[in-house]
Amino acid sequence: MASKLFPAVARSARQFVPHISRPQWRSFSAGPQVLSDTLAVHRNKPDNNPSIPFKFSQDNLKIIDEILNRYPPQYKKAAVMPLLDLGQRQHGFTSISVMNEVARLLEMPPMRVYEVATFYTMYNREPVGKYFVQVCTTTPCQLGGCGSDKIMEAITKHLGITAGHTTEDNLFTFIEVECLGACVNAPMVQINDDYYEDLTPESVVALLTALKESAVSGSAKVPAPGPLSQRESCENSDSLTNLTEVKWDPETMMRKDGQL
Ligand code: FES
Repeated sequence: MASKLFPAVARSARQFVPHISRPQWRSFSAGPQVLSDTLAVHRNKPDNNPSIPFKFSQDNLKIIDEILNRYPPQYKKAAVMPLLDLGQRQHGFTSISVMNEVARLLEMPPMRVYEVATFYTMYNREPVGKYFVQVCTTTPCQLGGCGSDKIMEAITKHLGITAGHTTEDNLFTFIEVECLGACVNAPMVQINDDYYEDLTPESVVALLTALKESAVSGSAKVPAPGPLSQRESCENSDSLTNLTEVKWDPETMMRKDGQL
């Protein structure tokens, strides 16, 4: 009621309240705000416009034939997602020319292809770096191990870019994503097609350094995908705590009197 009667007083009073401590919360996303028109609208750019020709390579045309064989001819538009993925792998990103070529091959209205490409976030409609680093920041990764906040911080500091950007040498694009389904090995990142898990700020920096060296000199040894801890997979890191009894064996576990 007070603010209704004296709105200006209430507003200006708020300016004088001192910030006592750092808020104990963080926003849902640490990445840059993505406006809805960026998500759904294409704007022609020098490196992404319909006049840039795109054709699938001979090898990919063979793969396309194989994919199309999985569908009845009248439903070949069902192959739109694998074809867009193939186009993205060949071209580096899902440009408007890739989408138009997929529409031509599948005899679909281009708008139907645009609808798919703008709906699924795995289609990059803008160029990305050689290494596309997706950091999971959903709750299990935020809470597991050292927590994804520390991983975000280490990557930001090491690459010198914030989430949603690409390094100047075009080697790394770094974004924040939701759960990638490897929560048991949190925190984790996906780099191109590989998962790197059980991360610490040190191990993620070592990984990025090795990737950069291997891209520049081709000699660095990049860690194998999977957990970068001592774990093989997602087994208990405190070793076996159950199922420790003798394995079932018909010789020793069956009744000796012949009864079932
Ligand atoms: S929460 Fe990170 S992989 Fe599931």
